[in-house]
Amino acid sequence: MDVRLLDADDEVALSQWYEALRAGWLYQRPWEIVSPIDAFAHLLRNPMVDQFHEGYVAYDGSRAVGAMMLTVATQSNSDKVNAEIAVAPAHRRRGAGTALLERAYRRTAELGAIYTQVPGSYSFADRDSHFTHAFARAVGLRLDLDEIQRRCELPIDPRLLAELREQAARHHQGYRIEVWDGEIPEMFLDSWLETQNLLAIDAPLGEVPYEKDSWTPEVWRDTRAYVRETGQQILLAVAISPDQEVVGVTDLVIRSNRTDVEQWGTIVRGEHRGHRLGLAIKAANLQYLAEVCPGARRIDTINAEVNDAMISVNETLGFRALAVHPMWYRKVA
Ligand SMILES: CC(C)(COP(=O)(O)OP(=O)(O)OC[C@H]1O[C@@H](n2cnc3c(N)ncnc32)[C@H](O)[C@@H]1OP(=O)(O)O)[C@@H](O)C(=O)NCCC(=O)NCCS
Repeated sequence: MDVRLLDADDEVALSQWYEALRAGWLYQRPWEIVSPIDAFAHLLRNPMVDQFHEGYVAYDGSRAVGAMMLTVATQSNSDKVNAEIAVAPAHRRRGAGTALLERAYRRTAELGAIYTQVPGSYSFADRDSHFTHAFARAVGLRLDLDEIQRRCELPIDPRLLAELREQAARHHQGYRIEVWDGEIPEMFLDSWLETQNLLAIDAPLGEVPYEKDSWTPEVWRDTRAYVRETGQQILLAVAISPDQEVVGVTDLVIRSNRTDVEQWGTIVRGEHRGHRLGLAIKAANLQYLAEVCPGARRIDTINAEVNDAMISVNETLGFRALAVHPMWYRKVA
């Protein structure tokens, strides 16, 4: 098995890499959605201010049988390298997965990072017996924490959203809820970034330690460019405190097919919790989504299994559990 760094400008190699990744990741996982090739190409070709990506291909002879996408953080949390790996079903149990991961461990150490993190995905019925556990044992991965994917089928009854907003509003007098179509007004940018940066440490964590994120206006511009240039759209909802600071944020990203929607982060700052702001901003963004993209059919969200506060908001809005997303890791230094 030969593992090579992908040249993302080589269209043939890129499409072989993508096909192996797609085939391996979707096999027996009807709940999964894989981004289109151009979204991966964009990430691989354009290093961002706070992260870059590398693709690797496992070749069996001249055949691409497995693929890996590394995400390398360069500012905050740069002690972690995320390695998404997948081997096409017809080529499993021949060492491709092991070879890819060994490359990931080596690259993690080479970059001076400490942890290689590897996401997985299986159904609830298989969670204790899935072969990923055997693979993880074989390649020296430990389970960090389980996250749960939930899905909300659209449209949501507009009366439910209106009612929830009305009920929530009684608990947060003095605060204002706003929605923005991919632009953060200048006067709110600093407090939006401050709030966003807490997400990495305020959500429940497993064994791998995290530090506060370091989003700056440049990181936000990069993220916005990625979303736009890949044909996606980001809808932001915020809670603004009486002293005109953003204290709660939530983002929905409409994928380029205009049918599937991803929930990105949601956070309310600690000192402003308990006012139903989380529910209010989420419901407001869902109302906005219905207006901007009435053809959207589903929203996916992933949260730590133990994040009771976020899960209760999601379930109230109609999200239902679909699958388990274990996060595995290996400490390489
Ligand atoms: C997990 C995955 C990457 C493994 O790829 P692979 O090329 O088949 O793995 P390897 O051949 O290197 O397997 C190494 C060892 O892991 C264990 N293992 C792998 N698959 C297994 C299975 N289906 N049942 C039992 N043990 C298994 C075995 O000990 C195996 O060694 P052996 O074949 O000599 O017994 C592949 O199944 C896949 O693409 N799954 C979907 C994507 C995914 O979940 N990725 C994240 C995994 S943490």
